Amino acid sequence: MGNLVKQIIEDLAKPFLADLKELPLWIKWSAIVVTCAATIPLALIFRARTAFSDKPRIHFIQNMDNQPKYASQEANALFLDGRAMRPRVEGTIARNGMADDTHLYMGVADGEWASTYPSSIAVDHELLLRGQGQFNIFCSPCHGAAGFGDGLIHHRATQLVETGVNGTSWVAPKNLHEEAIKAQTVGQLFNSLTNGVRTMAAYGSQISTEDRWAIVAYMKALQLSQDADPSMVPNAESLTRKSVSEGSNE
Ligand code: HEC
Repeated sequence: MGNLVKQIIEDLAKPFLADLKELPLWIKWSAIVVTCAATIPLALIFRARTAFSDKPRIHFIQNMDNQPKYASQEANALFLDGRAMRPRVEGTIARNGMADDTHLYMGVADGEWASTYPSSIAVDHELLLRGQGQFNIFCSPCHGAAGFGDGLIHHRATQLVETGVNGTSWVAPKNLHEEAIKAQTVGQLFNSLTNGVRTMAAYGSQISTEDRWAIVAYMKALQLSQDADPSMVPNAESLTRKSVSEGSNE
């Protein structure tokens, strides 16, 4: 059986081997070289699949994926001043960007800090609740929920200053119940939180105009809450007086 198979293979291979012997030597060598070279693309593909490269991928079909464009601060010879970024044409105002109402947008009325709320802001319970929410989000971390300047950030920063971590320095957030701040008009408070004040950052870009007025109204309510005249409470005389430290809220 084994012999038979061998015989068949030999019979089949004989003409082929005979042909091979007659081939010129250079063809044989070329065949060997081409066979070896054929592994190179495979090896390159294998390498490309596993190795890291910081070059862009080979990208045959572009589909407008890459287009010429100017990055910020780049030069552009088209313009006389050579700048690709065009300066804003003086006096232009973005759509809906007209802020001519100084009372609403700057807290200024008749050239002074406004002592009243802008006419488009209705000071009601809803506004105060909105102000409370926004104050608790944006201001209480430093100024504390009740505005005494004792927020969590203040506690943590004080701790860091005391332990001298990384040379931390800290300006304490203001106690919003200080006389000097209670005496401020709503316009000035609005300006402080819109544009920042001394070391405090500005919130004009993060909080909408309406919400900033809501925060101002809530700050005024907070101040009043800590310093209200009993006569403001109906039937105040008939109520029993208790100080907060007694821990009762009857
Ligand atoms: C990251 C901490 C921080 C946050 C958050 C913060 N403040 Fe302040 N605030 C300060 C500090 C610090 C000062 C005192 C600045 C100084 O004296 O240099 C200050 C001062 C003030 C003053 C007093 C300004 C004056 O005339 O003396 C007001 C009013 C005030 N903040 C309101 C707000 C309101 C409203 C918010 C929320 C929108 C807010 N702050 C959020 C840190 C903060």
